[in-house]
Amino acid sequence: MQNSLFSRDATEEEVAAYLKELPWQDKFDIDPASCLVREEDPRIDLIQGDNLEALNRLKPSMLGKVDVIYIDPPYNTGALHFAYDDKFGPNADASHAEWVAFMRARLTIARDVLAENGVIFIAIDDNEQARLRLLCDELFGEENFVCQFIWHKTRKGKALSRVARQVTEYVLCFAKSKKLLGKEGLFGSEPGADVANPFHHRPNKPRLITFPPNTIRTSMDDGDYQPGIYGDPNDSLSAEVKKTFTIKDGWISTELEVFGRFRWTQRNLDAELLGGDVEFHIRKGKFRIIFYKSNGHKAPSSLLDDRCGVGTYEEASKELEAMLGCQSFIYPKPTSLIKYLIKAVTINRPYALVLDFFAGSGVTGHAVAQLNSEIGGYRSCILITDNSGKINGRFVEDAGDQGICSAITAVRLKKALTGAWASGQVDGLPGSLVHRKIARYSSDLSEFSEDGQDLVLAA
Ligand SMILES: C[S@@+](CC[C@H](N)C(=O)[O-])C[C@H]1O[C@@H](n2cnc3c(N)ncnc32)[C@H](O)[C@@H]1O
Repeated sequence: MQNSLFSRDATEEEVAAYLKELPWQDKFDIDPASCLVREEDPRIDLIQGDNLEALNRLKPSMLGKVDVIYIDPPYNTGALHFAYDDKFGPNADASHAEWVAFMRARLTIARDVLAENGVIFIAIDDNEQARLRLLCDELFGEENFVCQFIWHKTRKGKALSRVARQVTEYVLCFAKSKKLLGKEGLFGSEPGADVANPFHHRPNKPRLITFPPNTIRTSMDDGDYQPGIYGDPNDSLSAEVKKTFTIKDGWISTELEVFGRFRWTQRNLDAELLGGDVEFHIRKGKFRIIFYKSNGHKAPSSLLDDRCGVGTYEEASKELEAMLGCQSFIYPKPTSLIKYLIKAVTINRPYALVLDFFAGSGVTGHAVAQLNSEIGGYRSCILITDNSGKINGRFVEDAGDQGICSAITAVRLKKALTGAWASGQVDGLPGSLVHRKIARYSSDLSEFSEDGQDLVLAA
């Protein structure tokens, strides 16, 4: 997509002028060589460096503005992955305490930058799930817990495991205000055509309801019908029709005045009919009134797997390898997983701001661009990730050109936007990439601590 004055063919001067006008000039250096400037496209801001320092630099301009945060922090598995360190503390106790302190400092800022109707998703596994839940209860409030999603992460499981083949991980979800989120709801899928809701409701007291003409479809034969009990008279779900009614061309063409145990009051019914998004049916036989809500949606399933279009680690690794041409990042999340979660919150927020401050391979940026392309919109995102990696077999905090951010995140995002995958050209996605760096790593981050306590950084 080249819909901008500054397409990929823009001159260096034009690009430089555009980049100069962007926010946060004083906070980060821009790396023009790895930017992809499309002026009118939603922006992916990729920030290279320690996320606590970056978050603190961004916080004043982001307070209360972020619609969705998705993060996939180190799980504290004790492993030194080939691109990043996942080990905290010298022994088990210190390790958990250090991990919690590391997360506390970052999640405190996350809470502050979330919008009032914002939502945070945090990927985690059994190593720290319990401690993360308690930490989030404390920071976001127990009452704002939404769900602990279970993600089907692999089809294989570790064949050698003797106690349990672990095929799932979690995505913990909290709202800034669950009350507010409840009004808007989370989107999972469109209602299936086969989702029929009974209008009859046995526990309710019988009441008289009047359906206006031509609001109920039916498979009953055309003709005039007399008042009386319809359905099995011994069943409390039968209904008493009070006035003669007529069926014409598959519709009840007159008013239907009916007395029975119904789910809604007349007031609810009138409001729903006014909204125009409900359809009523009566099937031949039992005279049961059924309704379909056409613009309602199903909330997301708490089980994230292929039934809701969510892939596994295997699929994610294959995709990343196809993009980059090599196996470069261990355990990337599938784009489909992040897309499902972001769509759940932002389906009706086309200008949403998404934040991921453990961006890793850049999957969240890719997912946001895909979502904009699939359902339209101008969702932008801020990604933060460090540039750690291995040089000559040794782990280093900043691995330069070979670090995660330079060699994987920025490259993956550019490929997602241009479609120039290692495996061949595919359709590019809408989006503009701005790659920034924290020029100096601050050696003393205590100035960024929320309250002066607990601030411990990963070694
Ligand atoms: C579990 S990975 C995220 C994977 C990502 N969701 C994906 O699917 O590609 C965590 C990432 O956060 C980065 N990271 C860890 N600590 C960090 C810190 N303090 N600041 C910035 N990035 C950090 C690691 O280098 C790693 O790339």
